Amino acid sequence: MNRLDGKVALISGAARGIGAETARLMVEAGARVAIGDVLDEQGRETAAALAGGNAGALYRRLDVTREEDWSAAIAETVARFGGLDILVNNAGMFLGKGIEEANLAEWHRLAGVNLTGVFLGTKLALPALRARGEHSPHGSAIVNLASVAGLVGSQLDPLYSMTKGGVTLFTKSVALECARKGYRIRVNSIHPGVIDTDMGAQTFAARARYAGTNDVEAARQRALSTHPIGRLGTPTDIAKGIVFLASDDAGFMTGAGLVVDGGLTAQ
Ligand code: NAI
Repeated sequence: MNRLDGKVALISGAARGIGAETARLMVEAGARVAIGDVLDEQGRETAAALAGGNAGALYRRLDVTREEDWSAAIAETVARFGGLDILVNNAGMFLGKGIEEANLAEWHRLAGVNLTGVFLGTKLALPALRARGEHSPHGSAIVNLASVAGLVGSQLDPLYSMTKGGVTLFTKSVALECARKGYRIRVNSIHPGVIDTDMGAQTFAARARYAGTNDVEAARQRALSTHPIGRLGTPTDIAKGIVFLASDDAGFMTGAGLVVDGGLTAQ
């Protein structure tokens, strides 16, 4: 199940967190993986740890808001590994401000990473994904990191929620466009609950600030209590879902959203 033997993946924002864990599981599943991020040192370390001496991973600087970075990252991935089967649009940022506090510059920064980044990655990777999809039993795959905040409203960050709602419907629309054009590319999104990463910590800090305290641990407990399953998510919980969506085991899935949220949106 969930094997990726012979596949090549490009993952944005994979120096740390969910992206780094996805890269690790993908290499374990037999894929070769290109990691793109703006955290160069951490990205190089992540790639070096993955490669394990067998050149199964590479790092390259990729600011997802820059078209030329995407073109270069895709070209390098194809040159090094011979093609591209999987794109994971994982890079993302959280603002942690209410609508009355956020300003226009912050919105532009957030939209640049969470929306423009997904648009550019999808558009520029399409030719390479299409080429490989023609020779693969279940086609190539795009997996977009949306969020529970792309399905229901966020009490912490309405602007983040707006971007993730955009990613949710962009995913479905690109799935339909690829199908209409006969491209063998499946496009799906994943919707994590609160995950214990740097971004998860940013959500606890925002929660504490709104409550008028510095008690981040209490905020963490409050976040946890919104998950009926009784714990927060781990990067591995989400990475497993991404690997599944990218694999041929999800061969009949396109335009779908996989909710991995410990029951948060079931309530
Ligand atoms: P994280 O903050 O640990 O990692 C995000 C990565 O994206 C970092 O390595 C960062 O350097 C990179 N990044 C930021 N701006 C970039 C840019 N312009 N170009 C390239 N890379 C850039 O966050 P985490 O938790 O691993 O999040 C991964 C994805 O999952 C994000 O899209 C996030 O919105 C989504 N998500 C996370 C949740 C959580 O609770 N942690 C919940 C729901 C969704």
